[in-house]
Amino acid sequence: MSRLAFLRQLACEAGALAHTGFGTAPSSLKGRHDVLTEMDGRVERHVRAAIAAAYPDDAVIGEEDGGESGERVWIIDPIDGTANYARGIAHYCVSIGYLEAGQPVLGAIHDPCHDRLYLAQRGQGAWLIEPGQPDRRLAVSPCATLDAATVECGWSLRRSTEDYLAMVSRVMHAGCAMRRAGSGALGLVDVAAGRIEAYAELHINAWDCAAGILLVEEAGGHCNDFFTADGAGVRDGNVLVATNDALARLLEPVIGIARLT
Ligand code: IPD
Ligand code: CA
Ligand code: CA
Repeated sequence: MSRLAFLRQLACEAGALAHTGFGTAPSSLKGRHDVLTEMDGRVERHVRAAIAAAYPDDAVIGEEDGGESGERVWIIDPIDGTANYARGIAHYCVSIGYLEAGQPVLGAIHDPCHDRLYLAQRGQGAWLIEPGQPDRRLAVSPCATLDAATVECGWSLRRSTEDYLAMVSRVMHAGCAMRRAGSGALGLVDVAAGRIEAYAELHINAWDCAAGILLVEEAGGHCNDFFTADGAGVRDGNVLVATNDALARLLEPVIGIARLT
């Protein structure tokens, strides 16, 4: 079985497992507004066990159990949008990315509430796979002006309220519409599918976006250099702006990313 086929099956299995606890899994707080459910750990353990059995030499990093990077590394967010998941709000997913030499090669995001799988392979496009439907190739929005753009502004307590509100203010003063739906991975899927024009977050972790960045790029979009040559993005997270080429030039300075060209 190819790595792509393995990932496709694993993401669907993990999504099905996660969905058994949708809205009902016992939850606690890791920190203020930082929700953890019993299912986050269960799904991550399931994914780790499958990878360890199929690819014992690969490195694995997961949100719940950590891990070290390597030449070949799988990056797992067992449930992205956990606050939605715990409240029974139908906007969460499982995200699994696979990187070689520091760059994403495969990415899968499974949206169990809609039984949708978003799958990308470097150089092979980004696809929406739904039961009973033909596979659909994803493409980012062609919008080229900020005053016609909708931007999802991701939020976490890893950055200050002042910095978040200042970013939102700059985005809105630039003419964009703003939304926040509570799953970074599904926000990136929405960009890849052309439903919104951009996703921006001042700090996001690799497990939230490893698969989503590849989906956006393979859908013809543009992301800033999240991963960085020294591997810091995987280890520490980074700022992220994911959009199309035309808007990247306009939006990156608004978010605070300097462009060299
Ligand atoms: C969070 C969500 C949120 C994003 C945060 C993430 P979680 O992940 O993706 O939308 O803004 O940066 O930490 O806690 O739901 O897995
Ligand atoms: Ca997450
Ligand atoms: Ca998570």
